[in-house]
Amino acid sequence: MAGKRKLEKFAMVSTFPNTFQNFRWENPVLINHEEKEVVLSGKWRSEFFQNENPIVIELACGYGEYTIGLAERYPEKNFIGVDIKGNRVYQGAKYALENEMSNVAFVRTDIRQIEYFFAAGEIDEIWITFPDPFRKKRQAKNRLTDSQFLDRYRKILRQDGVIHLKSDSDIIYEYTKEVLEELKLPVYVDCDNIDEAEGLDPVLKEIQTRYEKIHRQLRQTIKYIQFGLN
Ligand SMILES: C[S@@+](CC[C@H](N)C(=O)[O-])C[C@H]1O[C@@H](n2cnc3c(N)ncnc32)[C@H](O)[C@@H]1O
Repeated sequence: MAGKRKLEKFAMVSTFPNTFQNFRWENPVLINHEEKEVVLSGKWRSEFFQNENPIVIELACGYGEYTIGLAERYPEKNFIGVDIKGNRVYQGAKYALENEMSNVAFVRTDIRQIEYFFAAGEIDEIWITFPDPFRKKRQAKNRLTDSQFLDRYRKILRQDGVIHLKSDSDIIYEYTKEVLEELKLPVYVDCDNIDEAEGLDPVLKEIQTRYEKIHRQLRQTIKYIQFGLN
């Protein structure tokens, strides 16, 4: 039954005009709700959002809580949630459509292909919310703050753009700090428990994702790092 519902969501998300999907590993391309190939790289503002506002992407967005929550708070910015799982993206995309949110889109793709869908400097800010920890050392290259992923983000993020990482995971938190130190990248905020820190952006506590709620129930502390790529 759960599998059937998942399949229904997969089918429905492909009919949403605010959602674009990439199914290809070789020659990646975005498919729109009319099953047409579309090129939005370099054209998100002019062709999709039809404004000149900044673009913020949420990677590993899951159900898209940050994409939606930030878009509601900042109507003068555009937001795009990115995740591989169509049934999760479905939820945020449906909410955005039902609430006529013109500053929201979703892209269903592997984040390893992110640079195909945005042009150099097209992105102003990146959020990474509760990425999978990939606990084993040999899986470290899959972590969304591994240097290979940071290289991809550097291709699309504005020169002085910032990345926000929010996670319960000590593995992700420590690993990210190691990578940033090794690459000598600027760290603007480093917080090992957002509930005890002062002066943080209130959205860090106001918006809670599905996974954050689960981890909070397990009494995990929530960490936050804000950093740059240059
Ligand atoms: C632990 S969940 C967190 C979801 C959401 N941010 C939250 O906090 O509830 C991690 C998400 O990352 C996505 N993900 C992991 N690796 C990915 C990749 N390489 N490309 C796209 N999505 C990925 C998974 O599909 C999953 O939805």
